Amino acid sequence: MEAPRRAANRQKQRSRRFWLIVAVVVFVVLIVVIVPTAVILSGRHSSKGLASSLILPLYIYPVNDAWQPLWNALNTTSDLNYTIIVNPESGPGNTSLPNDDYLPAIQRLNTFPNVRTVGYVRTGYGTRNISDVLRDVETFSGWADSNQGIQMHGIFFDEAPYQYSAEIAQYMQRANDAVRDASGIQGDKTIIHNPGVIPDEGLALNTTDITVVFEQSFEEYRSLENDLTSLSGDRSQYSFMVHSVPAKKNLQNFVDNLSRHAEYLFVTTSSSNYYEKFGARWREFTQAVPT
Ligand SMILES: *[C@@H]1O[C@H](CO)[C@@H](O)[C@H](O)[C@H]1NC(C)=O
Ligand SMILES: *[C@@H]1O[C@H](CO)[C@@H](O)[C@H](O)[C@H]1NC(C)=O
Ligand SMILES: *[C@@H]1O[C@H](CO)[C@@H](O)[C@H](O)[C@H]1NC(C)=O
Ligand SMILES: *[C@@H]1O[C@H](CO)[C@@H](O)[C@H](O)[C@H]1NC(C)=O
Ligand SMILES: *[C@@H]1O[C@H](CO)[C@@H](O)[C@H](O)[C@H]1NC(C)=O
Ligand SMILES: *[C@@H]1O[C@H](CO)[C@@H](O)[C@H](O)[C@H]1NC(C)=O
Repeated sequence: MEAPRRAANRQKQRSRRFWLIVAVVVFVVLIVVIVPTAVILSGRHSSKGLASSLILPLYIYPVNDAWQPLWNALNTTSDLNYTIIVNPESGPGNTSLPNDDYLPAIQRLNTFPNVRTVGYVRTGYGTRNISDVLRDVETFSGWADSNQGIQMHGIFFDEAPYQYSAEIAQYMQRANDAVRDASGIQGDKTIIHNPGVIPDEGLALNTTDITVVFEQSFEEYRSLENDLTSLSGDRSQYSFMVHSVPAKKNLQNFVDNLSRHAEYLFVTTSSSNYYEKFGARWREFTQAVPT
C-alpha cells in the first residue's frame, strides 16, 4: 500500500528535520558562547602585530565629558603606551598657563603611567617665524615651572617641512635644539616631526625621535604602501596616521599590518575633523594596537 509508506517517510523526514534543527541550534549556541569568551580571554593577544604605541592628536576641547572616551581607554588598556598631543590653541596659547578647562584635564592626563604628553607647535612647513616657534616651545616648557603637574614630555612639530633646503634643515635643527635645551620639557624630551609624507633625506635630523611619514586616508595608504613599507629606518622612528578607514574594514588586521612598519599609530574611520572627535571605532582601535 502506498499511503502508509508515505506516512512513514514523512515521519522519517520530520524526525531528520528535527535533529537537523537541534544540531543547528547547538552549533549556534556554541559559537555565541565560545567565540566571545575566546576573544575576551585572549584579548589583544590574538594580534599578530609588533608592540606599538598609540599616538593621539587630541584636538578636542576638554569641556563636559568630551575626553571621557580617552579616560575609559586609558583605564581599560593600561598595558598600552599613549603619546598624547596636547593642543589648546594651535599651540600652547598666548598665556603662560593653560586655561581653567585645560589645566585640570592635562593634570589628569599626566597621572596615567602609560601617558606621555607632548606639546603641539606649528611650523608652517618652515615658513612660520622661528621666534614664534621657539616662544611656543618656551611656553610649554614654562608649564612645568608652575608645579601643577602639567609638564610636557616632548614637542610635536606639526606642518613640518618635507622639501629639503639648507635653510629649512637649519630651521628645524633650531627648533629641535630648543626642545633639548628647554629645562621644563621632561622625560625623554621626545621630538616628533609631522610632515605627513616621507620627507627628503636631508630633513631626517638625528635629533628627531619620531617622524609622521604618513598622515592621509586609507585609500592613499594603499597606493603608497610600497614606499611606506620599504623605508630604511627602524620602525621606532616612524608614525602612521590613517583616516577614513572604511567602517567595515578588519581593524585588527590593518593595525597589525601598520605595526610592522611604524611603532606610533593612529587610525580612525572619521573622514573629516579626524582629530576633533573620537571616531566611531575608537575603542576597538585602542584594543587592536599590539603591545
Ligand atoms: C580609572 O581607574 C582609576 C583607578 O585605577 C579610578 O580611580 C578611575 O575612577 C577610573 N576612571 C574611569 C573613567 O573609569
Ligand atoms: C594671541 O595673540 C594674538 C596676537 O599675538 C592675538 O591676535 C590673539 O587674540 C591672542 N589670543 C588669545 C586667546 O589671547
Ligand atoms: C619674527 O619675529 C621677531 C620677534 O617677534 C621679529 O623681530 C622679526 O621681525 C620677525 N621676522 C619676520 C620675518 O617677520
Ligand atoms: C648629528 O648630526 C650632526 C650634523 O648633522 C653631527 O654633527 C652630529 O655628530 C650627529 N650626531 C650624532 C649622534 O650622530
Ligand atoms: C595586510 O597585508 C597583507 C600583505 O602584507 C595584505 O595581503 C592584506 O590585505 C593586509 N590586510 C589588511 C587588513 O590591510
Ligand atoms: C611603555 O613605556 C614604558 C616606559 O617608557 C616602557 O618601559 C614599556 O616597555 C612600554 N611598553 C610597551 C608595550 O611598549
